[in-house]
Amino acid sequence: MKIFLDSAELEEVELAASYGILDGVTTNPSLIKKAVSSRQQRGEDVDLQAYLHKLLETAADVPVSLEVIGTRREEIEKEGIFLFGQFNPIADNVTIKVPVNPALSEDGDNHYAGVEAIKALADRGIPVNCTLVFTPEQALLGAKAGASIVSPFAGRLDDYLREQNKQIFDKKDYFPADGLKQGDVLDDNGLVSGIDLVGQCVDILAEFGLAAEVLAASLRNTRQVREAALAGAQIATLPFEVISRLLVHPKTIEGMQGFTRDVVPEYARLFEEKKEKGSRIQGFE
Ligand code: E4P
Repeated sequence: MKIFLDSAELEEVELAASYGILDGVTTNPSLIKKAVSSRQQRGEDVDLQAYLHKLLETAADVPVSLEVIGTRREEIEKEGIFLFGQFNPIADNVTIKVPVNPALSEDGDNHYAGVEAIKALADRGIPVNCTLVFTPEQALLGAKAGASIVSPFAGRLDDYLREQNKQIFDKKDYFPADGLKQGDVLDDNGLVSGIDLVGQCVDILAEFGLAAEVLAASLRNTRQVREAALAGAQIATLPFEVISRLLVHPKTIEGMQGFTRDVVPEYARLFEEKKEKGSRIQGFE
């Protein structure tokens, strides 16, 4: 499974890229707002054009999703073409993020505007990440329209289920992949959890040979990362905080403390001697 960073913070992109495990970056207007406000609070002026330029260069070898803001088909299409034309030449790594349905209310007349724009952008050869997916049928239509990535929002579906159950929860709380059992399993039209949503999207796209990759979005803890991988998601996008916890286990730390304590001088000297003879051994200069 590919690991993307879900952030517009330049320092986080730099760090995650330095770990050597970064396969991509996702942003959205809220993440950009967060990055801009944190800089403004530090008294910095933000030139967003220059900032995004740097971010794309930093993530040069991996795709970066930039999201449109319009709600009508023509706007979304124009914005997608603009974002791609303006920013893709920097490092050839821009994917345009388009909401599967940009309607702002249920009685809106634009429920298909996202899908139509996805088709128009994909027809021009622009890679599209179809976002705000909360049902497998939205994923199916986004993929059919030509999106190269579809993004089910696992954590937000869990939030929705918990809210319906009037649960008080912390955003980072683990939500069981097989659903919340309160007498009956709580579900959203047949979906018992965000990970269930991810799995159903994976199964349906695979069943019909659709090329889009499923990107498990809105993941809040490390256990959900594992579950997204087991559900077959090709990509998971993670906040930096979750990436930094992926390798942490108390027994690994305890093991390291023991191994470090047990190093006898004779063993340590081996490495010292190697360093002295270093010129003959590559990497030990
Ligand atoms: C990524 O593409 C999504 O925009 C992001 O994962 C949403 O995460 P959130 O629900 O934690 O805001």
